[in-house]
Amino acid sequence: MTTLQQASGPKYTRILGLGGVRGENVVTNDDVAGPIDSSDEWIRQRTGIVTRRRAGADTDVLDLSEQAARLALEDAGLTGADLDAVIVSTVTYFNQTPAAAAIIADRLGATPAAAYDISAACAGYSYGVGQADALVRSGLAKHVLVIGAEKMSDFIDPTDRSISFLLGDGAGAVVIGPSETPGIGPTIWGSDGGRASLITQTHSLPEAARTGTMPTLRQEGASVFKWAVWQMAPIALEAIKAAGLTPEDIDVFVPHQANMRIIDQMIKQLGLPESVVVGRDIADTGNTSAASIPLAIERLLREGEAKRGDIALQIGFGAGLVYAAQVVVLP
Ligand SMILES: CC(C)(COP(=O)(O)OP(=O)(O)OC[C@H]1O[C@@H](n2cnc3c(N)ncnc32)[C@H](O)[C@@H]1OP(=O)(O)O)[C@@H](O)C(=O)NCCC(=O)NCCS
Repeated sequence: MTTLQQASGPKYTRILGLGGVRGENVVTNDDVAGPIDSSDEWIRQRTGIVTRRRAGADTDVLDLSEQAARLALEDAGLTGADLDAVIVSTVTYFNQTPAAAAIIADRLGATPAAAYDISAACAGYSYGVGQADALVRSGLAKHVLVIGAEKMSDFIDPTDRSISFLLGDGAGAVVIGPSETPGIGPTIWGSDGGRASLITQTHSLPEAARTGTMPTLRQEGASVFKWAVWQMAPIALEAIKAAGLTPEDIDVFVPHQANMRIIDQMIKQLGLPESVVVGRDIADTGNTSAASIPLAIERLLREGEAKRGDIALQIGFGAGLVYAAQVVVLP
């Protein structure tokens, strides 16, 4: 009987390098409050957001992706030619096809690396990290670039009170590759499509073509808030357990930057010690969906609050509904 061979790869993986970029414009609460009959005070109290960063008209998801990717490659001491796969997680790239990832791979000199996009909204970065870890350990790729990139401002209705004022633009990227020691814990991920209507775009592309109106994002904020607070903490705890750790072992906690009150509630429910450093980039950057976790890590490392080698718990959650969590060693 003929037996085929199956690929196998290294036992362990880690994040080798990380980079992030934010939209160049600082948009204050006063800048967005008028059309939604809100105020700087309300937005600060209910969300913790002070400013959000938004990109200019000349910058698109590809530009943000490329900039973050170049920083991550430099941080890893690698070039595009070292990449075997490029994954871009985004829900704000305008083209259904071809994938943003193939274009980014080409721009980085990574061709013929495998390249594809994933649509997992605010969980997209953690989905990508889980996939990259699996690709490397299976032997399918040695170095994988994962980018979370969003230009949320292209999908904003300034008069929408439910989500638009939360959103910012940016991209975060990591290079994942083989490691001598464990650097990425098991990914706990999942979905709940029965609640797809909680965060959606207003209408489909055919409707947009018919009406001449761009779709924008909408959410049922209070329901999403409850889901995030009550259902995501157990997922994060599972990720800690799957990594063979306890909450006391966590140095850094980087949840998706959705709302400062969600972050505070999650800390309580996880029973994280006060010494744990927490990503709170939302205050300045806003919610950048798939980019929010790597951007929050980028800030913690740049400002010296977290250090390379720290053990970080990250969890993404959002439209789908979808979620993913894992414990990683910071690059
Ligand atoms: C959107 C969000 C900030 C709204 O805050 P909230 O405390 O849940 O607000 P509610 O919808 O319960 O409304 C409370 C009050 O504020 C008012 N309100 C709602 N949105 C407002 C806004 N943008 N500005 C001013 N007032 C607002 C409501 O009218 C309501 O007034 P009332 O008490 O007089 O009826 C919050 O639900 C949230 O952050 N949810 C998580 C969503 C998220 O992050 N999703 C992204 C993907 S993960």
